Amino acid sequence: MRPVIIAANWKMHTVPAEAAELASTIARRTAEAEVIRVICPPFVALAGVRDALAGTGVAVGAQNVHHERSGAYTGEVSAPMLEGLATWVIVGHSERRRDAGETDEQINGKIRRAREAGLRVILCVGEQLAEREAGRAETVVRGQLAGALTGVAGDRAIEGGAETDANGAWLAIAYEPVWAIGTGRNASGADAAAMAVVVRDALAGIGLGGDADAIPVLYGGSVTAANIGEFLAEPAIDGALVGGASLKPDEMAGIVARAGLTARARAAVPS
Ligand code: 13P
Repeated sequence: MRPVIIAANWKMHTVPAEAAELASTIARRTAEAEVIRVICPPFVALAGVRDALAGTGVAVGAQNVHHERSGAYTGEVSAPMLEGLATWVIVGHSERRRDAGETDEQINGKIRRAREAGLRVILCVGEQLAEREAGRAETVVRGQLAGALTGVAGDRAIEGGAETDANGAWLAIAYEPVWAIGTGRNASGADAAAMAVVVRDALAGIGLGGDADAIPVLYGGSVTAANIGEFLAEPAIDGALVGGASLKPDEMAGIVARAGLTARARAAVPS
């Protein structure tokens, strides 16, 4: 059975002192043991957020990682540097593809480095509005998945080990249509679910075989407490990657409470 995951991407918000306080508040307001909760603050807040979340069951994630292990890369952060600070990492977010010009090849390298360091990966994929309007959304997402993951998984997306949960997946895919990010214009639950099915089909084609069914697929893009239910009502969708609303404890409380209902309902009806 796939876990239900709610991940908070704080992007370039919060200074370290605020981040630790906000993380504590969110942990307190989202005490749902059945939901995997992850908070991804800015790099400089990782240590403080880790300390603030100790013992809460909420995991810490980084928002990016470099594709090389070390070297002359001023201002960058490598996977080994994240050891002890984060257990998850977001890779391939559309804002980094757009602003830092990240390529599929680099994203592939980032995932390899993350795996070597034992980090769990949330890989972001999603089409631009023009691509959707041209009927190319599925092709774009399939291409991003192939570029990011070919040769990475070693045919195993599911393995035991400390860095995985009972489900065993180290990889989650976040489908984030670019036109839905930060716009208040979310995709429909049905459209997101249709893409989640495409994602699993593509993963199987990349060589993940039977493991593809066990990989959580999250939706991201203007998720709020008011609309999370539309996504979690879709059996193909296993949670959300939340941006703006993840900075608001009331929103996170509502989102995770709804996710808890889904997690319990799915556990009661084994798939
Ligand atoms: P918003 O929830 O602010 O639209 O951001 C989504 C996102 O990019 C999460 O990674």
